Amino acid sequence: MLYDNHGREINYIRIAATDRCNLRCYYCMPEEGIKFLDKNELLSYEELERLLNILAPMGISKVRITGGEPFVRKGMIDFLETVSKVNGIDHLHLTTNGTFSESMVPRLKAIGMKGINLSIDSLDRKRFAKITRRDSFDVVWKRLHQILEAGIPLKLNTVVLNGQNTEDIIPMVRLTEKLPISVRFIEEMPFNGVGKREELVWNHVAILNHIKSAFPDIEKLKDPSFSTSFNYQVKGSAGSFGIIPAYTRNFCGTCNRIRLTATGVIKTCLYDDGVFNIKSFIRNGATDNQLRDAFLELLANRFKDGHEAERSRKFGRPISESMTTIGG
Ligand code: GTP
Ligand code: 5AD
Ligand code: SF4
Repeated sequence: MLYDNHGREINYIRIAATDRCNLRCYYCMPEEGIKFLDKNELLSYEELERLLNILAPMGISKVRITGGEPFVRKGMIDFLETVSKVNGIDHLHLTTNGTFSESMVPRLKAIGMKGINLSIDSLDRKRFAKITRRDSFDVVWKRLHQILEAGIPLKLNTVVLNGQNTEDIIPMVRLTEKLPISVRFIEEMPFNGVGKREELVWNHVAILNHIKSAFPDIEKLKDPSFSTSFNYQVKGSAGSFGIIPAYTRNFCGTCNRIRLTATGVIKTCLYDDGVFNIKSFIRNGATDNQLRDAFLELLANRFKDGHEAERSRKFGRPISESMTTIGG
């Protein structure tokens, strides 16, 4: 098993496989002027596979592929299949906007995808289009049901956006009464490619109070180990809901994850500004042993929490990078 300098078990890597996306969610990136990476600036699928073959025997057993939108990168489904076969990677997950083609659903099931987290910020087509700057609600809604029918565990990610989608909070909770899904309401973070953001009005406390006003007798569920969400259920529901205090950062004590950004940089905390350029290291000829040692060193120097990581940023303060290169 792998531990960091704060005694936390590290068993999870999130890989942003591309920075490109076919939507333009305003809380994630500006509408225009984004400079996407060239293909050779991304780690190749072979480089990623090599890294996973090094990390799995060290103790990494969970991989989440994110983006951008993973399926915008060519060959994604074959890559996912490759990852599913890496010895020791027992939990392969995907975070997606759900606009991929229908034919992918049975393939995702066939490779044993352990769970899909689908970003969906509104149940209303117009509001969805305003937030994502694309009119894709219908296809995402269809995919949501196809994923459920295929029996792949499904979570919905909803970033709570002041003045944009708070009228969706209660209908989203209602959806969990009928469907076996977990809806997670996420505090908005400043990773929007612009940096400017109003004070956070809808923090986790406000979200929970709002839900309690409509559902006074919700039950607190036991949270799974390493959970970023605090989870609840409306009695008798098929599903559940959770709140992710992504900006408040009160779950860092059990943080089990590292990140590989689309630019090939390792982040040991979402809020740091990149602690190691692993792409350069690999392309300068690092051996497997050198890569292993580099990871051990990174884990021996992790920030205590996301607040310390943010204070320690060398280049980017205030935060202004886009979530699309980080992968969430
Ligand atoms: P599970 O593996 O299903 O628990 O999901 P996850 O929460 O790790 O992943 P997902 O990609 O669905 O992320 C949901 C939201 O939580 C996104 O907005 C992420 O940016 C945020 N999030 C995920 N991991 C962290 C983290 O380590 N720190 C903070 N502050 N936010 C996180
Ligand atoms: N604040 C909070 N969550 C965000 N995500 C993207 N940008 C932000 C942001 N600025 C979420 C997406 C996706 C997850 C990986 O990260 O909605 O579901
Ligand atoms: Fe881990 Fe940093 Fe997220 Fe806290 S903010 S849970 S330390 S990645």
